[in-house]
Amino acid sequence: MEKMQLYPPGCRVLVAEDAIAGYGLAHPWKLHRIPPLDGFLERLPENAECLYVHDVAVLPDRRGGVARDYVAGIAELAPASGIATLALVSVYATRPLWEHLGFRAVTADGDLRAKLACYGEGATYMLHDLAAT
Ligand SMILES: CC(C)(COP(=O)(O)OP(=O)(O)OC[C@H]1O[C@@H](n2cnc3c(N)ncnc32)[C@H](O)[C@@H]1OP(=O)(O)O)[C@@H](O)C(=O)NCCC(=O)NCCS
Repeated sequence: MEKMQLYPPGCRVLVAEDAIAGYGLAHPWKLHRIPPLDGFLERLPENAECLYVHDVAVLPDRRGGVARDYVAGIAELAPASGIATLALVSVYATRPLWEHLGFRAVTADGDLRAKLACYGEGATYMLHDLAAT
């Protein structure tokens, strides 16, 4: 709810074939930083460096192209905020999917590594350089 208020254009109900298929949440953030997992953001950072994709979830029977369209949609939003990078934490073995969509795994520094550990094994911080596409 808070993220919708802070950055409404990044928070979308995803639709496939005229039916609700899922949702996506993204907001401006700093590079190599992960927002608090369950806490409030309180405010968006000044001089944001990326659009951070906080969550994307698609109903099992509606999957196929929905996440791709969401990423394409927020990629269009980014330049208006002076942002050229999308970021996310890949979980649940979704890394190949995000790589397919243009994200690349980034080596995490100590602080980032500690935060990633809270997401479980295999959590990977990934960036998508929009200027490279
Ligand atoms: C992850 C999730 C959002 C993907 O939704 P989706 O609508 O099925 O994703 P898309 O079909 O748009 O996938 C994007 C692309 O990645 C491809 N892809 C999917 N799995 C892949 C894999 N294992 N390896 C390589 N590419 C893969 C798709 O074929 C698609 O390619 P296309 O754009 O050429 O058609 C959905 O499976 C989900 O809700 N999972 C549970 C929640 C979750 O894991 N969220 C993400 C947390 S990081």
